[in-house]
Amino acid sequence: MIYAESPALEIVNLRKHYRRIEALRGVDFELGRGECLAFLGPNGAGKTTLIRALAGRTRPTEGTIKVFGHPIDSIGARQALGLVPQDLALYGDLTTRENLMAFGKFHGVPRRELKKRIDWALQWTGLTDRARDLVGGFSGGMKRRVNLACGVLHQPKIILLDEPTVGVDPQSRERIFTMLDQLSDEGASILLTTHHLDEAEQRSDRIVILDQGRVIADGTIDELVLSTVGHSRLVRVRVDRPLTAPVTVPGDGGQRRTVHVGEAGRDLIETRIDDVTVNLGPFLKAVRHGGYVVSDMEVQVPSLHHVFLHLTGNELRD
Ligand SMILES: Nc1ncnc2c1ncn2[C@@H]1O[C@H](COP(=O)(O)OP(=O)(O)OP(=O)(O)O)[C@@H](O)[C@H]1O
Ligand SMILES: [Mg+2]
Repeated sequence: MIYAESPALEIVNLRKHYRRIEALRGVDFELGRGECLAFLGPNGAGKTTLIRALAGRTRPTEGTIKVFGHPIDSIGARQALGLVPQDLALYGDLTTRENLMAFGKFHGVPRRELKKRIDWALQWTGLTDRARDLVGGFSGGMKRRVNLACGVLHQPKIILLDEPTVGVDPQSRERIFTMLDQLSDEGASILLTTHHLDEAEQRSDRIVILDQGRVIADGTIDELVLSTVGHSRLVRVRVDRPLTAPVTVPGDGGQRRTVHVGEAGRDLIETRIDDVTVNLGPFLKAVRHGGYVVSDMEVQVPSLHHVFLHLTGNELRD
């Protein structure tokens, strides 16, 4: 039975220790019904550990996971979940179709429906032509597409995808997301991890950022932008010669009547502008009055990329 009011997933204080390493340090979040949630985070943040815990592949040290209101270890919960793992889990000495048959049977797809489901999965992953070929000889991106087909074949109510599009070409990626959209339209709830920030921005309803085993942000892209970098545009102008002194330009509304931008000796001027239609013209005019000619200009809209770097920093960490 599915409780009408409970979310698809409810995670409270999830912790996972591997000896000295604390992979998850008290993670709380919900996945709403029919929602597509993107999970982001630097390498080692704990994304795969979390997905594995949700899929019952690893036992959390502490915390609770509820699936449609049921404990994770109940039979109904297990049946509701489908996993597309980061590490490929396929039989190399079987054909694509045989792999799909094996996964379909494992997930209890009724025999009479299996062929139809397999054809559907083959079509969406663009593998119909390769259905009779051994998977062991496939390219990395093709294996990943088979891996995905195997994970969604039984049309689970909750789909967990761990970096489903790594190494997948742009055309196949598009098809994969169209397939996920179709599953989502049919009511599936989707949780995916990715390092493709543009993908997360365009395809998900909500974003959770994990860092060092903790949730450090949770919201829609607009909410995350507003609470971190703000909505102002970054304007970057290159001029024809190094500045002799900072340039005085009109302030961006409020109390600031003028501000000084740029640095003597550099030919680059950067500033933030709230309303481009009102303030970009006066800014460029001030640059010209300073005696400079603009040779190049870029206006950057704040994106998930900026939010991510703002929250997790620029340093590499593993
Ligand atoms: N089986 C394991 N044994 C010991 N440590 C582990 C194990 N699995 C994960 N870890 C550790 O837990 C931390 C989180 O790893 P995890 O794979 O969850 O990160 P991730 O966010 O998925 O990273 P990536 O973006 O690289 O896939 C890392 O420090 C990792 O070394
Ligand atoms: Mg991972």
